Amino acid sequence: MPNPSPVLVLNGPNLNLLGLREPAVYGTETLADIEALCHATAAEHGLRADFRQSNHEGVLIDAVQEARTGHLGILINPAGYSHTSVALRDALAAVELPVVEVHLSNIHRREAFRHHSYVSAVAATVICGAGAHGYALGLAHLARLVGAAR
Ligand code: DQA
Repeated sequence: MPNPSPVLVLNGPNLNLLGLREPAVYGTETLADIEALCHATAAEHGLRADFRQSNHEGVLIDAVQEARTGHLGILINPAGYSHTSVALRDALAAVELPVVEVHLSNIHRREAFRHHSYVSAVAATVICGAGAHGYALGLAHLARLVGAAR
């Protein structure tokens, strides 16, 4: 079988601490658990997950720009940058790939400053409040958006 097409799964700041970080809000699954879920879900849908995390805004923007050539779409949990980063939003708009935004927690049930995400306006789809399962839902949907769903 030929090499499956890649989608970028991009994780923003502090998500490397999942499992330890506020488990009542974000759950007990680690980022490694979520990475394994993403690899399995992507494979089920004939895709390959290029899974990355960074605490640095510029590194996330570089990853988005690099996805323009060679990746079919982007699943992103922008984490804290959801609520602050016009630059990340602009990068996502520039690459013109299908974008699915995911949040572990339901950001609308939380503090008011989390209710607005700059990324949502450039995302095809937003999933929040489903915990780690949101990544599986998001990848299944991204597979539909890129025409790879089985
Ligand atoms: C988050 C929600 C954000 O408000 C927060 O800053 C995060 C994680 C989530 O997955 O629920 O870091 O994106």
